[in-house]
Amino acid sequence: MGRSRVGIQLMGEPQAEVDVYLAGLLSHGFEARRMSPGEREIARAGKQDILVFAGRYRPDHHVPARLSDLVGPLKARTILFLSDMDPRSFVAFEQAGFSFINVTTDLSAKSLVALIAQVDPHAVYQASKAAALRSSVSNGIADAVVDLFGRLRANPVAPALEESARQRRAMNELIGKSPMSVWIDLIQNYHDGTAQHCALVSGYTLAFARALGAGERQTGRLFDAAFFHDVGKAMIPLEILDKPGALDAAEWEIMKRHVVHGYDILSRDADTNGEIARVARDHHEYLDGSGYPLGIRAGEIDDITRIITICDIFAALTERRAYKPPKPAEEAYSILLSMAGAKLDPDLVRVFERVAAECDGGRRPVLSAA
Ligand SMILES: [Fe+2]
Ligand SMILES: [Fe+2]
Repeated sequence: MGRSRVGIQLMGEPQAEVDVYLAGLLSHGFEARRMSPGEREIARAGKQDILVFAGRYRPDHHVPARLSDLVGPLKARTILFLSDMDPRSFVAFEQAGFSFINVTTDLSAKSLVALIAQVDPHAVYQASKAAALRSSVSNGIADAVVDLFGRLRANPVAPALEESARQRRAMNELIGKSPMSVWIDLIQNYHDGTAQHCALVSGYTLAFARALGAGERQTGRLFDAAFFHDVGKAMIPLEILDKPGALDAAEWEIMKRHVVHGYDILSRDADTNGEIARVARDHHEYLDGSGYPLGIRAGEIDDITRIITICDIFAALTERRAYKPPKPAEEAYSILLSMAGAKLDPDLVRVFERVAAECDGGRRPVLSAA
């Protein structure tokens, strides 16, 4: 169903100023180019393209009626990003049918991107994705998690804590620059199930920490807990981990042991002993006592575990597995909602709605993308 890339066609003068916007858009991952504002060029623009008239306002060039004729049906995808316009011209442009006109005096690529998001949020999504795929950061993330699990099979945790700090910086950078949906798409492209899952849970946890207003230190704690929550899976036979269908009862019992293995591995090391180990043990417990391994209840489940549990379930629902397609974020969130109260902390589930909404594949305006 992928749509073709939206092209951004920039027109205007002075050239130097328009070139600054052009460079800004290119660095944000947009497919942008300069075009001369002639009838023939504009006729060649695709129906999906966005036209941008930028630079200095020239009453002789920018007569609203003439411009309106020139862009024709592309009027609804035309942005006027002109400087020095007086309020009367602004009104005249509106009367001529233009709705995307810069109202701020901040004529930066960033405010241009905000306007593009209003014309077509998907264009911003595509651009963020292109920029993220280009970034060397994204290449390293899942590879590093795969590598971590490989090393854990042989060895305990110590070097992994440093790796966790490195991963957090990398993910922060990537998620900070792009909508969450870009992050999911990137991680979906990796095939090692457990590594994909851990990276996804860590990414959601970072976004959740942001939504909760967590500080630097607390975010770090949450990230470490997410990063290590399933390390016990390194002790589960690969035939079970990678089984392309549902597990039978006996296999499921073995799989459930991953929480105890994780607790054991992480307790062995002074750096991960305590909180990180406890989350690895308790992240499948539910408030009503119906979880595993111990069946503990609400009062015994701490906040950090409640947070990771929500991210873990959301990741499991939204990730692709050999035997199931990913669920859309909206559907996954409604499953979380149905578990809120009895199994999951209802206040936290409510805050998580923001994270789930951010995952929504560029269908909503993503104004923060700049
Ligand atoms: Fe788990
Ligand atoms: Fe998990």
